[in-house]
Amino acid sequence: MDLKIALLAGDGIGPEVIEQAVKVSDAIATKFNHSISWTPALTGAAAIDAVGDPYPEETHQVCLGADAVLFGAIGHPRFDNDPSAKVRPEQGLLKMRQKLGIFANVRPTFTFPSLLDKSPLKQERIEGTDLVFLRELTGGIYFGERGRLDDGNTAFDTCTYKREEIQRLAKKGFELAMTRSKKLCCVDKANVLESSRLWRETVQAMEKKYPEVEVSYEFVDAVAMRLVQWPNSYDVLITENLFGDILTDEASVISGSMGLMPSASVGTENALYEPIHGSFPQATGLGIANPLATVLSAAMMFEMSFGLIEEGALIRKVVDASLAEGVVTEDLKENGQKGNSTSEVGDYLVAQILG
Ligand code: IPM
Ligand code: MN
Repeated sequence: MDLKIALLAGDGIGPEVIEQAVKVSDAIATKFNHSISWTPALTGAAAIDAVGDPYPEETHQVCLGADAVLFGAIGHPRFDNDPSAKVRPEQGLLKMRQKLGIFANVRPTFTFPSLLDKSPLKQERIEGTDLVFLRELTGGIYFGERGRLDDGNTAFDTCTYKREEIQRLAKKGFELAMTRSKKLCCVDKANVLESSRLWRETVQAMEKKYPEVEVSYEFVDAVAMRLVQWPNSYDVLITENLFGDILTDEASVISGSMGLMPSASVGTENALYEPIHGSFPQATGLGIANPLATVLSAAMMFEMSFGLIEEGALIRKVVDASLAEGVVTEDLKENGQKGNSTSEVGDYLVAQILG
């Protein structure tokens, strides 16, 4: 198969982890007789420096022309500490999501048997955890009307959802639940928010189309609590943009390191794959960044964009091998033990694939 992939490395550790995912994907292509053409393009602070726009039109065209987008991370402390900055790297991310129409952010949380002791939670609580969040990504308070009133002394952000936006996200949730254990949890705050009441009403109306799926409705505060008490009681969860942002960060550390969880963002036309972690600026260029979340994002890309299930499975298998063998970066080592470098982990994965 010919795979055309847009490569957006971004900022901070983005380029280093992306390099490993490219190496691993190329090894998979060699092994299974595919050909991958990568087209790099600028995003984030790197794009602001080069052309003054964190998601330039040229980059958008590269994404539109590709079958899938592989993305690293964006963000730079230079902007975080400057509240008056006119353009920010994160704006590029939001613009990209909106322009590509990637409204469903698929964020799995699963555990690795060899890492159960790395979790901040007790082993017996997390064993068997395998859940997926579907976070709505192009609506809600992230994109609602915002501003200042009262000479700048009052600020507002609004959360708006249209029924169709909820329906298309929920449809993906029901469909995903059908391929898993047929359990769907709708996360909202319907006891307070009108937008949440529309979410609940919309999902309830869709239930009859999927009679086999058992749907529960839970308030976001209760889910935040149960996620650390009984993460293995959840399967597929659907939620709006901001709740999903917060809960998926909470869920991502259950596996033991932020550097492990991949994600996919999909719409009707385009798909983008990226690690859940951010640009980790303090680690830039040090060779200590864990590449596994990005490598696993490439696995999701093979599976979801190209239906190449065996290819994805082999990536997951060699990732498991690196964890079991302890060929890992310092975030996964015992205290004081030196970690393997980012590229050593990548090299190990490639050798396992081709070996
Ligand atoms: C994420 C990030 C982004 C978000 C930021 C960087 C804008 O936290 O992908 O979860 O809030 O969506
Ligand atoms: Mn986030």
